[in-house]
Amino acid sequence: MKLENRVVVVTGAGSVAPGWGIGKACSVNYARAGARVVAVDISAEAARETAAIIESEGGQCMALAADVSDPHAVSAMAEEIRAAWGSIDVLHHNVGIGKVGGPTDITFDDWQRVQSVNVDSLFHLSRAVLPDMRRQNRGVILATSSVAGIRYVGYPHLAYSVTKAATIHFIKMLALEHAGLGIRCNTIIAGLIDTPRIAQTVAKQFSDDLDAARAARARQVPMGKMGDAWDVANAALFLASDEARYITGTELVVDGGLTAKYA
Ligand SMILES: NC(=O)c1ccc[n+]([C@@H]2O[C@H](COP(=O)([O-])OP(=O)(O)OC[C@H]3O[C@@H](n4cnc5c(N)ncnc54)[C@H](O)[C@@H]3O)[C@@H](O)[C@H]2O)c1
Repeated sequence: MKLENRVVVVTGAGSVAPGWGIGKACSVNYARAGARVVAVDISAEAARETAAIIESEGGQCMALAADVSDPHAVSAMAEEIRAAWGSIDVLHHNVGIGKVGGPTDITFDDWQRVQSVNVDSLFHLSRAVLPDMRRQNRGVILATSSVAGIRYVGYPHLAYSVTKAATIHFIKMLALEHAGLGIRCNTIIAGLIDTPRIAQTVAKQFSDDLDAARAARARQVPMGKMGDAWDVANAALFLASDEARYITGTELVVDGGLTAKYA
């Protein structure tokens, strides 16, 4: 059991629609490795659904509803976790929202919301978990970024891409500040992943027909298919575990060869 007795907090731990979002698969995977999981989501129902899956398998999960862009909600969440389970060992910040368009397509409010949910949240969350980790001289912080943070993805996904690039550098900065303190920080760069959310956000950039859009996304990938949430969850489990004890300040790309193709 790679994460026996560790308290692992996953943000965006639900799915926007039925099926397996990345945070939901990561949460279940961490629990299967022995972790006590805190499933945090802006949707209480989505968080509860993940917790119910974990509990049905005999694992432990606390479901918490919080908007990670709200600093008060984040510190209240951390307090609640400490009161119930003592301390936080692993934070996996997985929330990510987007709004397709360039500066003349989206509004400043859209831009600010994406920044606030994807990047300001990292500031609030790391402030909330680092004191515990420093005290323990042990901890792991992971974030889910995207190939959009390092490449142009074929359509103007400006706010999303800029925040996903910022995520990578934020985590690298944290990693170097804490490298001598037993705290490892890494980013997972996910490629084109077949989650329920793509139907709501990016699919229509390819086609109005969802199956055609999924096939078009799959064709871009050298391996000929999109990844699924478990591909990301397995990479995340490795990075969260002690097997990755000498890995910090870097990125693990999970993309079926996509970024190697357009290096
Ligand atoms: N699906 C892909 O192709 C893909 C590719 C690369 C990276 N990613 C990244 O992976 C992560 C998860 O993606 P997914 O496709 O599984 O998404 P998803 O939308 O299914 O899951 C994200 C969850 O985050 C929750 N959420 C949204 N705003 C929140 C907020 N302010 N506070 C707390 N929770 C909030 C949603 O309710 C949802 O349950 C995101 O960071 C996304 O950018 C996804």
